[in-house]
This record gives sequence, C-alpha cells and structure tokens, in this order.
Amino acid sequence: MCGIIAYKGNKNSTNIILNGLKILEYRGYDSWGVASKNDKIHIFKEIGKIGEINKINLPNAKIAIGHTRWATTGSITKENAHPHLSCDNKIAVVHNGIIENYEELKKNLKNHRFVSETDTEIIPHLIEENINLGLFEAVKKVANLLEGRSAFIVISEYSDDLIAVRKGAPLILGISNDEYFIASDIPAFLDYTKNVNYLDDNEMVVIKDNPTFFNFETGDEIKKRIITIEWDKEQARKGRYDHYLIKEIMEQKETINRAINQDESEIQKIANEINNAFGTFFVGCGTAGKVCHAGEYLYSKIAKKHINFVVASEFSNYKHFLTDKTLMIAVSQSGETADTIEAIETAKKQNVKVISLINVKGSSINQKSDYSLLINAGPEKAVASTKAATSQLALLLLLAYASANRLKEGKLLLIETAGMINDMLNLRYEEHIKRLAERIYENEHLYIIGKAANYPMALECAIKIQEISYMHAEGFAAGELKHGPIALIEKSTPCIILVANDETKKDVLVNAQELKTRGAYTIGISPEYNKIFDYWIKVPDAGDASPIVNIIPIQILSYHLALLRKHDPDLPRNLAKSVTVK
Ligand code: F6R
Repeated sequence: MCGIIAYKGNKNSTNIILNGLKILEYRGYDSWGVASKNDKIHIFKEIGKIGEINKINLPNAKIAIGHTRWATTGSITKENAHPHLSCDNKIAVVHNGIIENYEELKKNLKNHRFVSETDTEIIPHLIEENINLGLFEAVKKVANLLEGRSAFIVISEYSDDLIAVRKGAPLILGISNDEYFIASDIPAFLDYTKNVNYLDDNEMVVIKDNPTFFNFETGDEIKKRIITIEWDKEQARKGRYDHYLIKEIMEQKETINRAINQDESEIQKIANEINNAFGTFFVGCGTAGKVCHAGEYLYSKIAKKHINFVVASEFSNYKHFLTDKTLMIAVSQSGETADTIEAIETAKKQNVKVISLINVKGSSINQKSDYSLLINAGPEKAVASTKAATSQLALLLLLAYASANRLKEGKLLLIETAGMINDMLNLRYEEHIKRLAERIYENEHLYIIGKAANYPMALECAIKIQEISYMHAEGFAAGELKHGPIALIEKSTPCIILVANDETKKDVLVNAQELKTRGAYTIGISPEYNKIFDYWIKVPDAGDASPIVNIIPIQILSYHLALLRKHDPDLPRNLAKSVTVK
C-alpha cells in the first residue's frame, strides 16, 4: 500500500508531485506529504485525503518526492506522514512497504533523533550514518540491510541525484524529454509520458543527467530497454463520471471483450497445462479469491475437472501437496498483493509452475510468474474491484471451455455475454437499481445467497456492499441458510437471491421462498421474474457466464448504497487498492 512518486526535470516539481499523488491516492489516504529540493530540502505534510488541494506552500524546485500513506507501522499523525528526514534534515525519503527488521536496525542508531513511530524513518538515518561512503554507496548499503518488501526514493542536499530502490514493492521510471518520473504506478505520470522502464526486485536507479540502473546486491550495472505502454491517459481519468467506481462498472460494456481477445493457441496451451497438471490451484485474495472460487465451480461443470481453490493467505498450509507437476494459477488485478506473492514464493520453492492472470504489466506477480495472461481491463482506480473481477471471470471461463476442448464455443458465449452486458448497462437500468438502494439503504443487515458458481458470487456481492456502503452484508451458499443463518432473518430484512437459469434454479428458488416465509424482503437477480421476488432486477440469460452478469447489478447497488449513506465510493475507509502488506 502507500503511493510514492518523484520528479526530476525543468518543470515545477511540486505541481507534478501533487497531481501524481492525487492519482496514487487509491493506494492509501491516511496522510500525505511532499519534499522538494533546491539549495535546501523543504517539507509539507498533511493528515487525511489530498482532496481538492491544488497548490502547496513549497518553493519552486526541480527535484521533489511525494507520498500518500496507508498507515501500517505508526498511527495516523503528521509526524508519521512521509517524507522522513535524517537528523541533519539533509536527506529525505519516501517509502512504500514494510521493514521487518527495523527495530533491530534502530538499535544501532542510538545517537540519532527519531521523531516518528514509523519503520521508514530508519532509512534516512541509516543513509546519514553511512554518508561518508557517498550518497550512492550509502543508499546501496541500506538497500541491502532492509528485510521485507519495500520501495523507497531518496533526495538529499549532498547531491542532485535522485535515487530509487525496489526491493519487493513496485516502482516504475517514466522518461520524457530531459525529465524523469518515478512512481508506484504508471497513471501517476501518464499525463507526461508513456515511455517507461520497470525496475525489477533488488534494483536501484540513480538519476544524474540520465538514469543508470544497478543490482544493489552485486553492484553490477544493468541495461534496460524502454517500453512504451499502451494505457491511454483518458482511461485513467474519471471523464464524465462522478466517481471512478461507476466509470469502471460502466466500462464492463467493453472490458469482457478485451479480456477474451487473447491468442487462442496460448489459451489452449494453458488449458492443456491445467489438464495435464497433477493438481491445479487457483489462488487469489478478496475479490480475486472469489473469482478463483467461482473458477473452481466453472471448471467442475464445464471441463469436469477438479481444481483446488485456496485463499492466498492460507496457501502455505497446502505446501505438503505441491510437487513439480503441480500448477498454480494466481489471480490478481494489481499484481502486487503480498499474500498472493507469498503464495507464489511458497509454490516456487516446490518447483510448482505459476501462471498468473493480472491487469498490471510489469507488476511483481508478472515478474515472478512463469507466464502471465493480461486481462486488459485498463487502469482500475476505485479501491473496490469491479471490471477486473468480471474480466478475470471471463478468462477463467474461457480456460474452462478450452480445457473441455470447446474453446470456440466458450469464446462465442463470452462475446454474446459482452453484447448483453453492453445492452444492460444503461441509465434506465441504473435508475431501477438506485430505486432499490433508496428502499434498503437504512437497513443495517443484508444477506445474499447463490448456488454453484453463484455461491462465491454471493460472497463477492457481500464484499462489495461491505467495503463501499459499510452495511453488514453476508453471502451464503443458498442451501446453508436453513443450517443456522436463517435465524437472522426478521421482517423486511433485505435478501438478495442470485439465480442462474440452469439446474440450480429450482433449489435456489426454494431457499428464496424459505426466506420470504420468514418475512425477508426478497430481491431477485435473475433472468426471469418469479412471484417470490419483492424486487426483481433482470439480468440476461448468459448460461455458464451467469456469475459475470449477476454481480454487475450488485456493483451498481453498492455504489448507490454508498452515495445514499454518504460515503466516498472510490476511497472506502481503512482500505487501499493494492494490499502490499501481509
Ligand atoms: C475488493 C477488492 C479486494 C482485492 C484484493 C486482491 O473489492 O478489490 O478484495 O480483490 O485485495 O487484490 P488484487 O486483485 O490486486 O490481488
């Protein structure tokens, strides 16, 4: 979590940093800060979101760094906001990640004065302690001392060099004419350049007049090729929408088609690997985890093949079952989720082959995988995942069809589904869902049920509602209700029923009737009307793609619940977009 950015060039650096921080705010919004450097280092820090601030009181400078924080070590205070300084105030550092051995390292810095509770603050002090080696050597030494996943950027009064280190957390260099940007994510500098160098783990970059890359473990210089990225800066903006969330929900008109627009021979090759593996694990966290869980059902139904779904943070418990014939499919929008990375590392130790489904090219998971499929959803900025989730589902569905030797059929189904989603996502549809939100937004509890692949989707709907509206929402396997949770149902408790037009329909409707009999206010997400529903939201009959179409109305519902309950749908409390801590 946390977003870091740096600039070196001839423009007013603080404006560039401020704009970049606003774009990176999805990575953390507990506090933020900027350091600029002309002859001296100047600092500005604030608690809370950057919001509408367009100017900060710092002198014009050609070098600056900035940070937006998701608090881990140390509470949310101005002192704990980055950048952090050395005792002589001549070295300023912004950092994303966790320094696992910071307490141990701090013990050796007895004569230094610390002003924050953060782990980060040891970095400028350690550099200061070693500054007699010169800034580059001091930073290199410190990079080798830190344990845990980190990325940090350093400016100093000792030289005009801008130095950045990647040790497990993302960092990308943007290159324009005579100006350089470094950030945790590309959209932070997409207004200025599309030409980038990805830093790999254990690499650092030193920008004097030009950038030079080094492996900080060996000290070797590294040559890098400039990559021109395809993301359009308009894609990374809100455009005519009030929030990224609703923009990204509406983008699902196109994103399914983009996800399945893959090289068919590659898809077939991966499907064959799944067929031939001695055990395949689908692994992810949160929404990506629910997608993996749905993938398990889709594979069972379509390819008649058992897949092991495991939540990434639990994967190490399965290490006894891994061999060099095992396959892992890791699913992650950001490609930076620490739990998923750790699961991949566990797998790699046992020589497991790892294929990932990711949205961010060059991300850590992309680099750690044997092979990656890009879901091509474009930048996802709202903290709650929407378009990435449906794109991931589409790709897993396509793989399941390919595993059943029915790739063409699967592709056709998904193309039809994309067309149906395009027709469905109109203003009238959104209004219909908004009216439902107006009826239920004052309730504190809400339950969702589904069966087969729509069971994990019920769990996903619950995540969406919880994280954006802060209502208590819980998803259940429809048949499980009568084994306990039905005791929670009171008169008018809203209950959402996810229905697919297949062999599960009859059972789910029986369970819906059980809820209605206990007084629930039943909301049917279904291709067909049924008199059990007090409120009906029609979804297209998408066959095996029903989990994809069924979650979309709940994404819209969550958005309107958040607005009615006066919460920011893009930046929900306590959360951040990429969860780079364990
Ligand atoms: C919920 C949400 C999270 C993420 C999870 C994994 O809306 O966005 O649950 O799905 O943190 O993130 P990625 O996909 O980046 O690995």
